[in-house]
Amino acid sequence: MLSDTILKNQLKNTLDKTNFKLGKKYEGKVRDNYILNGKRLIITTDRISAFDRVLCTLPFKGQVLNQISAFWFEKTKKIIKNHVISVPDPNAMLVKECRMLPVEMVVRGYITGVTTTSAWYNYERGVRNFCGNMLPEGLKKNQKLEKPIITPTTKAHKGHDESISGEEIIKRGMVDEKTYRQMEKAALALFDFGTRLVAKNNLILVDTKYEFGELNGELILIDEIHTPDSSRFWIKNTYQDLFNRGQEPQKLDKEYVRQWLADKGFIGDGPIPKIPDEIKIEAAKRYITAYEMITGKEFKAKNGDVVRRIELNLKNAKLL
Ligand SMILES: Nc1ncnc2c1ncn2[C@@H]1O[C@H](COP(=O)(O)OP(=O)(O)O)[C@@H](O)[C@H]1O
Ligand SMILES: [Mg+2]
Repeated sequence: MLSDTILKNQLKNTLDKTNFKLGKKYEGKVRDNYILNGKRLIITTDRISAFDRVLCTLPFKGQVLNQISAFWFEKTKKIIKNHVISVPDPNAMLVKECRMLPVEMVVRGYITGVTTTSAWYNYERGVRNFCGNMLPEGLKKNQKLEKPIITPTTKAHKGHDESISGEEIIKRGMVDEKTYRQMEKAALALFDFGTRLVAKNNLILVDTKYEFGELNGELILIDEIHTPDSSRFWIKNTYQDLFNRGQEPQKLDKEYVRQWLADKGFIGDGPIPKIPDEIKIEAAKRYITAYEMITGKEFKAKNGDVVRRIELNLKNAKLL
């Protein structure tokens, strides 16, 4: 684990924004995208988002996310082709530009969550057919499902994502049936692979979402994969005992900041409470722990100007 000194010193050097003279820029909540000729340069910044809002930046968060995604893309390329071309910088990924399919494939191994699209939120309010999956009576919060389920959401450009069933996706013509079946198959295979891999490192892959694109008639895995932003991770060896006692599992995801804000009464509307440095450092440590537990590797980072370093690396890669 990086020392507190390194983390604290990096607070003033976090990567909030980039402004490279390169292609057409699309600024997502967390990542700055530069659309080039048939390619896309994705810079993962240190921004953290929750409740569909950008909250603040956390030291090294972008590097953690980008390197976790790179790890999984490499490990899963035999299951499905992905968009990666190269990783020119710890915070950057050069990918193939694909036609985005307007659906997020959410896979859940456990029933949990607090937002309106989460399985537990709906189940608690009496929903038993969730996105085409029949859920049995008597489930408790955070319980393991008999087998993982797919609960797609539409990828809305404006406004919030909407839960939807696979049948409805096909009926509305959002994705054709053959492609949708391929997406289902890939999503479950990826989830199974991820679950097994992290189990060796004392983690549970609770749920996650995948995005797919299409290129030259082929289905391609795009965006990010099995990161703490796109997935929930719980600590495995304490899960059962805590569950039996009706307590919350130990979590390793962006829930920490979300929970801190919720405790301050913030659930997405109005001004964001000022997040203290100690909270940012603790949150950053959780991201770094996630990196180390998922990949089994030590996280390496140095203090410094991240934009400067990216610029140099992009020049070396002849992208700038
Ligand atoms: N290979 C790809 N081709 C086209 N679009 C992609 C590809 N990979 C990721 N994207 C899109 O790039 C964006 C990544 O930035 P992000 O910060 O996640 O934005 P958002 O706030 O829209 O989720 C997402 O909109 C994602 O769908
Ligand atoms: Mg996104």
